[in-house]
Amino acid sequence: MSLIEARGLSRDFVVPKRAAFERTRHQTALAPTDLDVQAGAALGIIGESGSGKSTLVRLLLGLDRPSAGTVEIDGRAVDASAPARSLHWLRRETGLVFQDPYASLDPRMTAGRIIGEPLWALGIEGDRRARVREVLAQVGLDPETAERYPHEFSGGQRQRIALARAIVHRPRILVGDEPLSALDVTVRAQILDLLIELRRTSELTLLLVSHDIGVVQNLCDTVVVMKDGHVVERGTTDEVLQRPTQEYTKALLAAIPVIPARGE
Ligand SMILES: Nc1ncnc2c1ncn2[C@@H]1O[C@H](COP(=O)(O)OP(=O)(O)OP(=O)(O)O)[C@@H](O)[C@H]1O
Ligand SMILES: [Mg+2]
Repeated sequence: MSLIEARGLSRDFVVPKRAAFERTRHQTALAPTDLDVQAGAALGIIGESGSGKSTLVRLLLGLDRPSAGTVEIDGRAVDASAPARSLHWLRRETGLVFQDPYASLDPRMTAGRIIGEPLWALGIEGDRRARVREVLAQVGLDPETAERYPHEFSGGQRQRIALARAIVHRPRILVGDEPLSALDVTVRAQILDLLIELRRTSELTLLLVSHDIGVVQNLCDTVVVMKDGHVVERGTTDEVLQRPTQEYTKALLAAIPVIPARGE
């Protein structure tokens, strides 16, 4: 059984009318899509801007309601219309990192509170402060920095905090929507190493939206390519990146920046 399973998953948005006499138009952000992600796998999601990558991951995580179709995580139906409390199990299973490490951190909370918040929110027992210090160390930050506020950190450090928060409750699934794009090359390489290490040591299942092929190459074992709300190509990372079959994928690969793979 797949850890993540989507069947006929789709999402339409109503486009605002430009004039009173216009008919209501619908835009398909995601056309009916099937997807299977096995436990422990790492899936890269690539595609041009507006192709539906974020829509797909939001639907998988129950952050948005599908227009049609179903999502199951570990055999359990994800119902985004259910009250927040009944999705606790899903929050427990998943951790999320977004592109902008500043916007996602509450400026009034210390790093320690930000990172530990999921433990309290999800009612996870144990020595929570110790767990916060442990993940701080894991993401390469001094545990003493738990007392500091987001503005006292650099962009790269803030993204480490976002990552620490995403893994503090030991989720089985980590989802990154362009988690490295706002970072400069050196910091990106450090966080990339961290993610590789996390996958190696904690059997995380990873969903990674990225336009950075180097990142996808280093982290993911399968890739889906999206265009206009459709998955137009999918396969192992080697197949898709080295031998793409679609012209769109070839053009996409030619157009996007390539960070040298590790060890090159
Ligand atoms: N809340 C919304 N209301 C209306 N349209 C939306 C909404 N969210 C997404 N869309 C539309 O759905 C399509 C897919 O958007 P999505 O954010 O999934 O793209 P993306 O691949 O993540 O793009 P990017 O690389 O720029 O983040 C776009 O055309 C977008 O305008
Ligand atoms: Mg997006």
